[in-house]
Amino acid sequence: MNPQLATTTETVDFVFLVIFGISAVMLLGITATMIYFLFRYNHKRHPRPTSQVASNLLLETVWTIIPTVLVMAMFYYGWAGYLALRNVPEGAMEVTVTGRMWSWLFEYDNGKTSDRLYVPAGAPVKVQIRSVDVLHSFFIPAFRVKRDAVPGMDTYVWFTASKPGSYDIFCAEYCGVAHADMITTVEALPPEEFAAWYEGEKSAAEETPGAGLLAEHGCTGCHSLDGSPGAGPTLQGIGGRQAIVVTGGRERTLSADADYLRRSIENPGADVVKGYPAIMPAYTGQIPEEDLEQIIAYMLGAQGASEPPLDGAELAGQKGCLGCHSTDGSERAGPSFKGLFGRQVTVQSEEGERSVTADAAYIRTSILHPAREVVAGYPPIMPAFADLSEAELDAIIAYLKELK
Ligand code: CUA
Repeated sequence: MNPQLATTTETVDFVFLVIFGISAVMLLGITATMIYFLFRYNHKRHPRPTSQVASNLLLETVWTIIPTVLVMAMFYYGWAGYLALRNVPEGAMEVTVTGRMWSWLFEYDNGKTSDRLYVPAGAPVKVQIRSVDVLHSFFIPAFRVKRDAVPGMDTYVWFTASKPGSYDIFCAEYCGVAHADMITTVEALPPEEFAAWYEGEKSAAEETPGAGLLAEHGCTGCHSLDGSPGAGPTLQGIGGRQAIVVTGGRERTLSADADYLRRSIENPGADVVKGYPAIMPAYTGQIPEEDLEQIIAYMLGAQGASEPPLDGAELAGQKGCLGCHSTDGSERAGPSFKGLFGRQVTVQSEEGERSVTADAAYIRTSILHPAREVVAGYPPIMPAFADLSEAELDAIIAYLKELK
């Protein structure tokens, strides 16, 4: 075994098989001997003990030496395997991964950043691991490497992706509500493709300083830039958006201006957008002032100016809502949209029946998670429309509001 030439996968699998093999032989051997002795020395067949032997030096020596050799062999292979995992092959490409609540960010030597780990297939890669907040654990099952990311401590793993492909990366240490979102991939590309990616165009996020900073400070782990849903509200069109927020238990509507955006970053618990859990960590002092200004300017600019205002009525048709919900009060598979907004409705949930007001928050939940609360008298057949963007949701809700 040459640890310098083997991949981490081969190294770990070899040690695993050695220990598993020894354990399997022992388990089978000991069980078989036990069963054989059970019959061979059965009490009924041997009413009286026949042997009074008190010691047998040869036997005792053998049963001491064999297990010692086995245990030392397991230790040797385990230790050699551990060294192979800690000794990075020369010439390995270096990438830095930063873990934070709740995303991974990869940074390359030439300044490129990405939320997936791009590597050339067939070449060793050293991943320098850091955490900026709490304990995370950088885990790539396919390459058998896992290392805790500890704030204030730099550590690393290395691996070689022998074949091009996409391999899972997990966070293997529970780090808070959105721990499960810390999933990404290793994208092992053929060397020429990797070189093209590495030298290639910077992504849109890197081109726009504001968007790049959002990724760098981990914002995009929870807030999408393209309207797709996440642990927090999307930042698409955030500038000037009217938001219903919960302030100290009370709801109020405010406009997402510079003050509000700054407050949301520095003191996220102050006004929490309705429908989202108050889980965002405070970034006070974590983002340099000039970065903060750029980020806010970017968000204010992201008013979705390039996009035409969405027509709720048209969207309801396009998304297929009108197949089950009429707009004139007539009965279909689901409740009619006419007069729905603001009405008291009886809904069925896991906790039983209750009466709710069909307000914006209720309608939003009904579209995103239709099975949670089903209007009494209707079957729970509506599929979830989780792919609607925030802007689309807003437009549809505004349309329902008009349909009184
Ligand atoms: Cu990060 Cu779990």
